[in-house]
Amino acid sequence: MRLDVVSIFPEYLAPLDLSLIGKARTEGLLELAVHDLRSYTQDRHRTVDDTPYGGGAGMVMKPEPWAQALEDIAGASVAAADGAAPGRKPILIVPSPAGEVFTQRLARELAEEDHLVFACGRYEGIDERVLEWAAGQYTVRPLSLGDYVLNGGEVAVLAMVEAIGRLIPGVVGNPESLVEESHSDGLLEYPVYTKPSSWRDREVPEVLLSGNHGKIAKFRREHQLRRTAARRPDLLDKLDVSNFSKTERNVLWDLGYAVVDGRAVRRPGEPSGE
Ligand code: ADE
Repeated sequence: MRLDVVSIFPEYLAPLDLSLIGKARTEGLLELAVHDLRSYTQDRHRTVDDTPYGGGAGMVMKPEPWAQALEDIAGASVAAADGAAPGRKPILIVPSPAGEVFTQRLARELAEEDHLVFACGRYEGIDERVLEWAAGQYTVRPLSLGDYVLNGGEVAVLAMVEAIGRLIPGVVGNPESLVEESHSDGLLEYPVYTKPSSWRDREVPEVLLSGNHGKIAKFRREHQLRRTAARRPDLLDKLDVSNFSKTERNVLWDLGYAVVDGRAVRRPGEPSGE
């Protein structure tokens, strides 16, 4: 997979040299380039922003440097394909609190792509016409990390590249660890423990020491459901539970949910909790 990141703070992306993503780059699983938006400006002051039409606080990123950068990167993408069957358009990800929420499902979808380009906005954002214009060469996806506001797209790119990159085959050493993790099946992960089995008067749940794999799986499943009901009931509301076993349905019932038409529905008057 090829990744390009455009930012006025290229040093912000330095952590992408580290850890699993850094290793994936050295091993050639990921090809990643960071571009300084200011190198695509034409004026002496390397200007990237200006005041907003219509007034209001803050500055808006000017369209010209963005067009130059995105044109260059898309051009290199076409050149790299070099006569091969015309591929899909590269994806242009624009991190923004006004974007669609980035989820594990989206990370999985994007991990299948050949080329992702990230446009890090700063200030009040990028002139909207850039996104409209870029749709000619890119599939444009404004994406948000969540319902809060960051100072720019760089931190969001670090998070998204890590979430997407680790799903590329070979990046995470043991692919099993991608199976039983939070959000892999619409639920939060179960609690985990390691040695010592007794620590500051707190014991590891006995079933985990039993070696009984059936009982351990049941314990973990129950705690996945308990934790999700307590911390993220919105996830339970969305879950398809039509294939849930009798045991799983019983746990849901204890948590205050009934199964109706394949959905977990809160029973009136029943509080849900861990
Ligand atoms: N830029 C500013 N806030 C953001 C957010 N919540 N998600 C993604 N990019 C952002």
